[in-house]
Amino acid sequence: MTKMTGPLTFRRGLTIKNRFIMSPMTTKMSFFDGTVTNDEVSYYSSRAGENGAVITGAANVQDNGKGWDGELSVADDKFIPGLAKLAAVIKKNGTKAILQIFHAGRMTDSGVLHGVQPVSASAVASERPGAETPRAMESAEVTELINNFRKATRRAIEAGFDGVELHGANTYIIQQFFSPHSNRRHDEWGGSLEKRYHFIDELVDGVLDVVDKSGAKNFIVGYRFSPEEYENPGIRMSDTMYLVDKLADKPLDYLHLSENDYKRVSVSDDYKDKSILAYVHDQINGRVPLIGIGGVEGKEQAEGILNNAELVGVGIQMLLEPHFVGKVLAGHEELINHKLSRMDQDTYQISNGTWDFLTGMKPDSLID
Ligand SMILES: Cc1cc2nc3c(=O)[nH]c(=O)nc-3n(C[C@H](O)[C@H](O)[C@H](O)COP(=O)(O)O)c2cc1C
Repeated sequence: MTKMTGPLTFRRGLTIKNRFIMSPMTTKMSFFDGTVTNDEVSYYSSRAGENGAVITGAANVQDNGKGWDGELSVADDKFIPGLAKLAAVIKKNGTKAILQIFHAGRMTDSGVLHGVQPVSASAVASERPGAETPRAMESAEVTELINNFRKATRRAIEAGFDGVELHGANTYIIQQFFSPHSNRRHDEWGGSLEKRYHFIDELVDGVLDVVDKSGAKNFIVGYRFSPEEYENPGIRMSDTMYLVDKLADKPLDYLHLSENDYKRVSVSDDYKDKSILAYVHDQINGRVPLIGIGGVEGKEQAEGILNNAELVGVGIQMLLEPHFVGKVLAGHEELINHKLSRMDQDTYQISNGTWDFLTGMKPDSLID
């Protein structure tokens, strides 16, 4: 089993000091236009220094990709100074700073976009209450979107980040191009599994190209994905196995499986012998490091994840206890303030009471 304390060196040369990664969690604390605030800087600062790396909450790469108010933006050069402050405070005591970049696609609305209709691969609304039907993007807009991911990567490099994570998970636009629910196109961007993957293929190559040409030393690129969708049609484990196989052959630095529970078993009958995490790890077969996540409360779950991954993502427990990693690595879990324990997927017991976290809503519809 991989040890929590061991360093890891990524393909592009960056070394992280231990296996803990603070997972991307939007703070909703940015200014109205996506500029970093002082509150955000201090929030990240208090959670850096002990983890191997911190991944920021999602930052939109173009204006119509904004998913909610208070979201980070990397859609213009004017955001670079604020992002540079964020990168600088995260890079404390050797922690590495990774900017998550994304576009919300159909998972936003014309209120957030100030009257502009959301866009997606096709004009199909998501299956959530009140979802608006998006406008299908023109082929030229798809090319422009890829170009904006490239520009966002260049800005992350200029701001001093150590890497970017492509947010291909949690139902946002990258996933929307791969999903048979949201992508009903019959052009070069859709129509078959291979063509639904075409956008991801071009996107990853485009971003890697920017990094390679930038001359940035040790700048890494990761890719986050969700394994299954509940919609019909929707992404199934067989699609994900295809995606993982393709991505593992790219010169990416890591893959990141987005889950709320690392022990989760697939809903597909053909993939019930082990956890989704184990299937994904086996499919990668050592080609690229994997971040596993979902339900880490302490050492026990972290070690459970490291049976089938090289890195451990920690989300909510890092919100509750900024020094979670330091205390776990020092063998002092008893000192963790607000220790989380899960009663079921939606309800968490915190050391001083019960917090019904996502009452009445599907977790996937809330998790950004
Ligand atoms: C408040 C909050 C905000 C989140 N924002 C993001 C985000 O911006 N990008 C993302 O990929 N995942 C986001 N997530 C999902 C987390 O990164 C993580 O996958 C999830 O919380 C499960 O990990 P955990 O059980 O350790 O909390 C968010 C989760 C929470 C609780």
